[in-house]
Amino acid sequence: MSGKSLRGPAPSLADACQPAPETAWVYLLRCPDGSLYGGWTNDLARRLKAHRTGKGGAKYTKSHGGPAVRLAYAERCADKSAALKREAAIKKLPKAEKEALASKWAADNRITIRMATPADGAAVAELYNWYVLHGTQTFQYRLSTAEEYAANIAGVLEKAPFLVAITPDGRLQGFACAHPWHSREAYAWNVEATIYCAPDCVGQGLGKRLYTALLELLRMQGYYNAFAIVTGENKASHEFHKRMGFTKSFVEKHSGYKFGRWLDVVYWQYPLRTGDAPPEPVRYRLTEAEMVSILEKVNL
Ligand SMILES: CC(C)(COP(=O)(O)OP(=O)(O)OC[C@H]1O[C@@H](n2cnc3c(N)ncnc32)[C@H](O)[C@@H]1OP(=O)(O)O)[C@@H](O)C(=O)NCCC(=O)NCCS
Repeated sequence: MSGKSLRGPAPSLADACQPAPETAWVYLLRCPDGSLYGGWTNDLARRLKAHRTGKGGAKYTKSHGGPAVRLAYAERCADKSAALKREAAIKKLPKAEKEALASKWAADNRITIRMATPADGAAVAELYNWYVLHGTQTFQYRLSTAEEYAANIAGVLEKAPFLVAITPDGRLQGFACAHPWHSREAYAWNVEATIYCAPDCVGQGLGKRLYTALLELLRMQGYYNAFAIVTGENKASHEFHKRMGFTKSFVEKHSGYKFGRWLDVVYWQYPLRTGDAPPEPVRYRLTEAEMVSILEKVNL
């Protein structure tokens, strides 16, 4: 969720919000022996996990590498029927044409993670607003503006990282940042982490890259805890936070109301540092070399 401040509920804007359109994907997976497996899904992340764990995945991927299979191509389709047609067409392609699809997809989606600047405000607002309109991941009803996000980025960067993930042609595919958890002094070593990947880019490993960098940078600054507040029904984010090493701490029942239903929120906590010794003050500014040392690990 976001730490952005909200005005009170605005029913007319809430009515304008729409549940997320159903997604449908065709995809190719690369097996360790070089072969490509094609399929379709309405949840890319969950399907990838099924292939990798062998629980509910395909026989082919189970016997051709299981945990080592990697996403080689993903294409979003209008709906299930379009995805099924496209899957059949892709499966009929000669291997060379499948390889060409995979090469182009890899080139188009070579994402670089860097520190944001206020000039990223418009792109970040656009990505976030998709979730404002279509999702319960954020409890915000009102659309954010580019100016608000430019100011938000500048504000965050005074104390913590604000990372953006950009394609070679300059498209924003995700962002991750952290805000102070509470304003009272004793909380100074805690942050709330926030992450959003573009709807077309979930389940492809980007969230892990962004959070890995974010958490490492926060640790280097001297923060002790990262918290995340996740909507009860946001299964992908619960799985994600669990996989990233967060521990579920407590549930706030009926904490928000959106799309005509009450929603719980779940608190997750990640210890960046441990120990009972008095903490050093947090370093709000890392050196350029320190930032590069972390970012180059996720930009390989
Ligand atoms: C939650 C979110 C940030 C995760 O990022 P992502 O790029 O989709 O996740 P990744 O592909 O990097 O997956 C990282 C791990 O989480 C697991 N995971 C992610 N989504 C999952 C899902 N839907 N089902 C099961 N596991 C999932 C992956 O299997 C992977 O595990 P591994 O390290 O064992 O391979 C992304 O889905 C997103 O932006 N969702 C919409 C916005 C949102 O909910 N933000 C969080 C608000 S609290």
